[in-house]
Amino acid sequence: MLIKTLYVKNFRNYKEEEFSFSPTLNVITGANAQGKTNAAEAVFLLCTGYSPRATKDNQLVLRGEEKAELCCRAESRYGEIGIEMEISRNDKKSVKINKTPVARLGELLGNVNSVFFNPNELKLVKESPEDRRRFMNISLSQMSRTYLHALNRYNKILQQRNNLLKNKDLQLIRETLPIWDAEFSRYGARIVLQRNEFLRTLGPLAEEAHAFLSGGKETLKIASESGYTGTEEEIAYALKEDLRTAREKDMRLGFTNVGPHRDDMKLLLDGEDVRIYGSQGQQRTVALALKLAETEVFHGRAGEYPVLVLDDVLSELDRVRQRRLIRKAEAMQTLITCTSIDKRIFGEKPFRKMIVSGGKLKKSTSSD
Ligand SMILES: Nc1ncnc2c1ncn2[C@@H]1O[C@H](COP(=O)(O)OP(=O)(O)O)[C@@H](O)[C@H]1O
Ligand SMILES: [Mg+2]
Repeated sequence: MLIKTLYVKNFRNYKEEEFSFSPTLNVITGANAQGKTNAAEAVFLLCTGYSPRATKDNQLVLRGEEKAELCCRAESRYGEIGIEMEISRNDKKSVKINKTPVARLGELLGNVNSVFFNPNELKLVKESPEDRRRFMNISLSQMSRTYLHALNRYNKILQQRNNLLKNKDLQLIRETLPIWDAEFSRYGARIVLQRNEFLRTLGPLAEEAHAFLSGGKETLKIASESGYTGTEEEIAYALKEDLRTAREKDMRLGFTNVGPHRDDMKLLLDGEDVRIYGSQGQQRTVALALKLAETEVFHGRAGEYPVLVLDDVLSELDRVRQRRLIRKAEAMQTLITCTSIDKRIFGEKPFRKMIVSGGKLKKSTSSD
């Protein structure tokens, strides 16, 4: 999959700009705070509907303006695709795919897959289980409509179940919970099953990517921490049983204590938990390995690589790892942002270089 052009208007610090990308390696460079990450963010946002860093949509709109507009022309093996997005200050996003408005943002997913990595993604390794669930959710939602649907249903049911648990009418709770629990287990099982499959595929690929990046000194292992295994029916049954066991606790605490919203994935380096024992450098390499493995999972599932966005990661790696990363990235369209480029790490391969300054594309050159 690839993005051919990107147009942004009133997006972040861009008044109006158009980028044209090469199908291979693209480097956006410039001084600090000029709009490199903003351009990288625009690409991932158009592909997935998610901003990797904005907590509110209105942060995406150029200060003083009412709405931002973004569009891209992309290509996948199913043909050309045009994606347009409008983001208004009051936190509303609307999307058109090939000029047709989509009813839900989720319909965007799966058209042009993308994997985003920047230093902030270290939280994937370092921080709470929520960050790792988010990784699985964004990845799987791009790959599978049934996953996205199950996740949406599950989240709604979870919210309703939690609301019910806060009710003072115990009789009502006891009567209504079993109804919610059946639905909860059904969609929960679908999520767990797909996450288990995802981690089974991702694991060896991440191990391989990690060995490649680090020179094979340590071994990375990934394990699911959900504890639910087996077929969808078996998982649904186990979930329902656990809900029943935890019912009194749930009622006492006023929220749901079991289910895939509490899942985690374990990351082990030579058997030790990277989250706890890993150095900053080790954690960074693990996070990067996970993302590279993710691109391979996409490739296996969709038959083509996603658009890889590497924001500001080169400066944090030593020369050997930089070169290795670039070699992996050569398999797909890659957008790299960095403050300065050392051409030596790119080898002989041609690449497009774009210089941004103050929200403007100053120069775009191709080395071939
Ligand atoms: N909504 C916005 N309106 C105007 N400027 C913004 C907005 N959001 C971010 N910026 C500006 O964008 C700049 C940062 O751009 P960024 O792409 O993160 O820089 P870098 O080139 O270092 O990656 C900052 O100067 C910030 O103030
Ligand atoms: Mg940046």
